Amino acid sequence: MDLLINGDNHTVDVAPDTPLLWVLRDNLNLTGTKFGCGIAACGACTAHLNGQAVRTCVLPVSAAQGQAITTIEGLAQGDELHAVQQAWIDEQVPQCGYCQSGMLMAAASLLAGNAAPTDADIDAAMTNICRCGTYQRVRAGIHRAAKVLQSRAPALPNTAAGGES
Ligand code: FES
Ligand code: FES
Repeated sequence: MDLLINGDNHTVDVAPDTPLLWVLRDNLNLTGTKFGCGIAACGACTAHLNGQAVRTCVLPVSAAQGQAITTIEGLAQGDELHAVQQAWIDEQVPQCGYCQSGMLMAAASLLAGNAAPTDADIDAAMTNICRCGTYQRVRAGIHRAAKVLQSRAPALPNTAAGGES
């Protein structure tokens, strides 16, 4: 089975119903994605499928074939951290860290679809579970990353005055 992960092609010999998380961790040694509950409840195993957050413990690998898979190992662009990763450092979000790669992937997906999430948006989207109770700092990290991403966004053309004069 051929998989596109973090921009690289990988071929794995696994049963089609194997959870993607098993393939990432056991076949490909991409151990940044964590196993927590195994039943889609905790979010520790969150990665992206075509930019959308998915819980890989319940996603058959066959469903990821031909899709762009991104794991925490592929979230940074070369040496440049993703805005959520930098914000997590600046806000000192992690405690034990176990849940945090899943948190980061969920946060990055949220911000890709909602540039300025409210606390309510964050609470609705971030259903990941943290044993250490970092939820307040996760919120702070997402708000910080949102501001950074907005400051980088190109200015929209001004069409309010009826276009070109
Ligand atoms: S390990 Fe996948 S949601 Fe908990
Ligand atoms: S930081 Fe420890 S489980 Fe979340």
